[in-house]
Amino acid sequence: MTILVTGSAGFIGANFVLDWLAQSDEPVVSLDKLTYAGNRQNLASLECDPRHCFVHGDIGDTALVAELLAGHQPRAVLNFAAESHVDRSIDGPEDFIQTNIVGTFRLLEAVKAYWQTLASADGEAFRFLHVSTDEVYGSLSPSDAAFTESTAYQPNSPYSASKAASDHLVRAYFHTYGLPVLTTNCSNNYGPYHFPEKLIPLVIHNALAGQPLPVYGDGQQIRDWLYVTDHCSAIRRVLAAGRLGETYNVGGCNEKSNLDVVRSICDLLDELQPRQSCAPVGASNLTDGPASSYRSLIRFVKDRPGHDRRYAIDASKLARELGWEPAQTFESGIRQTVRWYLDNQDWVTHITSGAYRDWMSKHYS
Ligand code: NAD
Ligand code: TYD
Repeated sequence: MTILVTGSAGFIGANFVLDWLAQSDEPVVSLDKLTYAGNRQNLASLECDPRHCFVHGDIGDTALVAELLAGHQPRAVLNFAAESHVDRSIDGPEDFIQTNIVGTFRLLEAVKAYWQTLASADGEAFRFLHVSTDEVYGSLSPSDAAFTESTAYQPNSPYSASKAASDHLVRAYFHTYGLPVLTTNCSNNYGPYHFPEKLIPLVIHNALAGQPLPVYGDGQQIRDWLYVTDHCSAIRRVLAAGRLGETYNVGGCNEKSNLDVVRSICDLLDELQPRQSCAPVGASNLTDGPASSYRSLIRFVKDRPGHDRRYAIDASKLARELGWEPAQTFESGIRQTVRWYLDNQDWVTHITSGAYRDWMSKHYS
């Protein structure tokens, strides 16, 4: 048996493949376009592993996907591939439409054609698992109940709109063609191999470099943070036992404001790697600790257009039906994350060149 994982050189896909092969000998075929967010280094430990085969390619390349499916005969396809950064989707939505909508559509077409060739027992056992986000549900006010699987879709950014479209296509392939699909909608992830233009790795990276820590608007936007390996265990559980055609919300019950997240990282760094130099980085617009603390690097900057105020996930369906629960609290997960970045500065140096620097100077200048 084999599984095909798309987007496996990105943050969550790489964690998923590494985790999968740490717990199972079932081979993995990886398909990734290696965009700016995809990094083969994330899978370096699998280079000589006969259970893993990496293919550089696009989920929208129907001929390539058909060839991979026919050649490897996977029993499941897990779709992590996507353009995933909200700020980039605001700056240029085109790639999001191409990969998240057109790419998912073409992948579904190729998978449907393959699935229709399978013998009946194999066809019944086959699964297409689509990895999606809580951002499709839109934004909550402080008193609203958390998103459930029946919350209406109200995506607000080009990123979340493109993911919502892909979720609808996946749903339609189940209802129209009977393709055995499963969808997961997860809250914000953090952990090892997170590309440092997203909030948590960016703050760790900038802090260690003595650079300002940019907090959008008033920093009171709320996200529900989940440690990435807990997301991976939820996906494994849904793949193994999820009901066909169903969607499952995945979340950590860890609602935090962005400012609190940034302060937690500063406090951990103060403990684990105290500042060497307290050189000022421009006038602070926040009085939040002495110059010797990383908190003194926090700066409020211009807000993101259309910035969603609050996300919160009700993951009780997954707990009730499939017995899943997260293993990490925010406190344990963020400590492991900060330690991982401190211990893997070579990875950070490798990834923060070229396209990364171009984006940072364009976005924050
Ligand atoms: P990421 O941006 O780190 O990685 C995406 C990967 O997909 C990269 O390796 C990239 O090269 C690859 N890719 C992009 N376009 C492709 C294409 N056309 N064909 C093949 N590969 C392509 O993203 P991530 O944070 O790992 O997110 C993975 C999935 O999980 C996405 O679908 C995202 O919407 C979803 N998700 C992410 C989060 C989060 O907090 N990061 C939360 C919930 C859901
Ligand atoms: P991000 O990591 O981009 O994830 P998402 O937009 O998918 O939730 O951002 C998380 C939150 O942090 C979001 O509310 C935007 C905010 N943010 C900042 O305040 N400063 C930053 O430099 C970045 C990248 C994000």
